[in-house]
Amino acid sequence: MTGAEPSTVGAATPAGGIGFAADPITPSAVDLRGVHKTFGTVRAVRGIDLVVRHGEVMAFLGPNGAGKTSTIDMILGLSQPTAGEVEVFGMEPRQAIVRGLVSAVMQSGGLLKDLTVAETVRYTAALFAASRPVAEVLARAGIEPIKDRLVGKCSGGEQQRLRFALALVPDPELLILDEPTQGMDVEGRRGFWKAIHEDAAKGRTIVFATHYLEEADAYADRIVLIRTGEIVADGTAAEIKSLASGRTVRATLPGADAASLRRMPGADDVEIRGDTVLIHSSDSDVVARHLLNETAAHDLEITAHALEDAFVALTTSDSESAQSKRPPPGAAQ
Ligand SMILES: Nc1ncnc2c1ncn2[C@@H]1O[C@H](COP(=O)(O)OP(=O)(O)OP(=O)(O)O)[C@@H](O)[C@H]1O
Ligand SMILES: [Mg+2]
Repeated sequence: MTGAEPSTVGAATPAGGIGFAADPITPSAVDLRGVHKTFGTVRAVRGIDLVVRHGEVMAFLGPNGAGKTSTIDMILGLSQPTAGEVEVFGMEPRQAIVRGLVSAVMQSGGLLKDLTVAETVRYTAALFAASRPVAEVLARAGIEPIKDRLVGKCSGGEQQRLRFALALVPDPELLILDEPTQGMDVEGRRGFWKAIHEDAAKGRTIVFATHYLEEADAYADRIVLIRTGEIVADGTAAEIKSLASGRTVRATLPGADAASLRRMPGADDVEIRGDTVLIHSSDSDVVARHLLNETAAHDLEITAHALEDAFVALTTSDSESAQSKRPPPGAAQ
């Protein structure tokens, strides 16, 4: 469900909000300190320290079961940490939600199929003492053209935009999205993010969980990579990519000998696939020069590692090099 739950009735902020973002002494939007969450024997979150500043658009990126939803649930006050502290705008999460400072767009959740899009927004707005005008919310979520359509007739992407619209009703300072575009096609995702991004330009703080690397890369100012309940990297997309920096030199070299290629200057890792050799290196110039001058290699191609490679390198448990570059805060390595 969105932040427009009945529990927030009559407790929204006064019209116009309370201007948290403009106040220089206001605490950060989200502050997690030493947060752990355990379900029986499952250690879903293992000591997360994270500060999200006002106006930041942060992606929480990680594989299945990494602990993204568990962390988001604690930020939304839907569950309590087993250990550690969670603050939202310097207060308890529930308090921040009651004050209309936080909304969420979850992946699924009850929409009534027999109402139109506009009716859905209107009824949700009626739950709040103070809310944004329906027309404005529809426009911001990019669903003004389909406002009279029955929800049951809307595509998955359109329904997600409607959930986004509902989350905008209390005009929250912080918007949390848990895999909001899962199951959408490329076009649907692009449209959804366009609407979110135009809205974020107005200074809203946004935290979103995703599996999609390209979404994190394209839409977040900051990427926090999480694996088995721990933060393994935190930075801009460029910084994350550089953590798993290096290039791959690919060449045709029949009868290549892996052992001698591994001894080559600059080679970090060598793979042989038939007549093709793949050499991973942080200094591809040295490798290319050696291959061309000292071996019979030909048809060279050099490619930079994409964010996808960085993601795999950083979230795969046997990636010792990635872990040693940035040990998870507070983790016993
Ligand atoms: N209520 C629960 N009871 C038991 N285990 C749980 C519960 N909620 C989550 N877990 C476990 O905690 C771990 C983290 O789950 P979580 O849902 O936070 O991952 P996620 O990063 O959101 O994954 P996904 O990308 O698949 O949504 C998983 O191993 C999951 O099975
Ligand atoms: Mg999840």
